Amino acid sequence: MKIGVIMGGISSEREVSLQTGQEMIRHLDRSRYEVVPIVIDQRADLIAQAQQADIDLALLALHGQYGEDGTVQGVLETLGIPYTGSGVLASSLCMNKELSKKLLKAVGVHTPEGLCWQGMKDYKPQAVKRLGYPVIVKPNMGGSSIGIQLVHKEKELLPAVQQACSFDQEILIEPYIKGTELTCSIVDGEVLPIIGIRSAHSEWFDYKAKYEPGGAEEKVIQLPPATRQRVREAALASYRLLQCKVYARVDMILCQDVPYVLEVNTLPGMTENSLLPKSAAAADMTFTQLLNRIIASSLLERKQEWGMVQDV
Ligand SMILES: Nc1ncnc2c1ncn2[C@@H]1O[C@H](COP(=O)(O)OP(=O)(O)OP(=O)(O)O)[C@@H](O)[C@H]1O
Ligand SMILES: [Mg+2]
Repeated sequence: MKIGVIMGGISSEREVSLQTGQEMIRHLDRSRYEVVPIVIDQRADLIAQAQQADIDLALLALHGQYGEDGTVQGVLETLGIPYTGSGVLASSLCMNKELSKKLLKAVGVHTPEGLCWQGMKDYKPQAVKRLGYPVIVKPNMGGSSIGIQLVHKEKELLPAVQQACSFDQEILIEPYIKGTELTCSIVDGEVLPIIGIRSAHSEWFDYKAKYEPGGAEEKVIQLPPATRQRVREAALASYRLLQCKVYARVDMILCQDVPYVLEVNTLPGMTENSLLPKSAAAADMTFTQLLNRIIASSLLERKQEWGMVQDV
């Protein structure tokens, strides 16, 4: 089977995507797959390169906009090329934090309150005061903590909002939930061991904490059984509600025993230091086995979805 590893892309997470792609290439089982790296530098590259390479499956190593947001998935659907992970709808829903939070709230999954502003025209510091400082200001459709800031007082709000606006037209402002940060990786509907995260130098999991050596301690966390159950249920409820398929990672903060879901990542990082492979390793699954599972499950998923309209 010829597998195209699609990486790079045009989002703020391009560098992380290239690392994810390299790591996937390093671990793909060569006795099963012929591997073709496909680096996307501009939008139009995808169609030309995927068709030229004549691949049987697109292994998506992209993150962020035009990659994780359903657009690339839509192109591949149109071309009839099977791809890994969630479909178009789940990808675009999960990319939009505000919309996914609205849906989560509707089914009773806890998520921080939030204000969503359509750029600087909505700038109203009084509304943020009502939310209560400190707050987290983030691009509504970002990733890897890029463009996010923790704001302790009103004086710091304007520059944080301006910065977030440079990454997305919409920004999301949430009260800072102080608690234990957790992440739940799900593969094929199975919740892998829960990882607890502690940033070394910051009050939150910022870019440095995510990607610099020693930036954070990330290890399997032992929770009391009832709490663990609540966390697993919140993760699975989010995954199912947002119609995720094959794999995803649900980020949350546990505060007074309540898991607050921050977001669902449909193409979570798969770099050397990423959380999903760590969680898989804790379940005795090597990176290679994890990729095998993602590939097999994605092929099955696309076959089921496309069975009515075309041959996979
Ligand atoms: N409401 C909040 N309360 C406390 N911390 C928060 C809150 N929102 C975000 N954070 C912190 O900011 C980090 C990044 O937030 P979030 O997961 O929403 O953004 P992201 O950029 O999409 O991340 P990812 O790299 O997982 O794609 C979280 O891991 C957490 O440490
Ligand atoms: Mg996150």
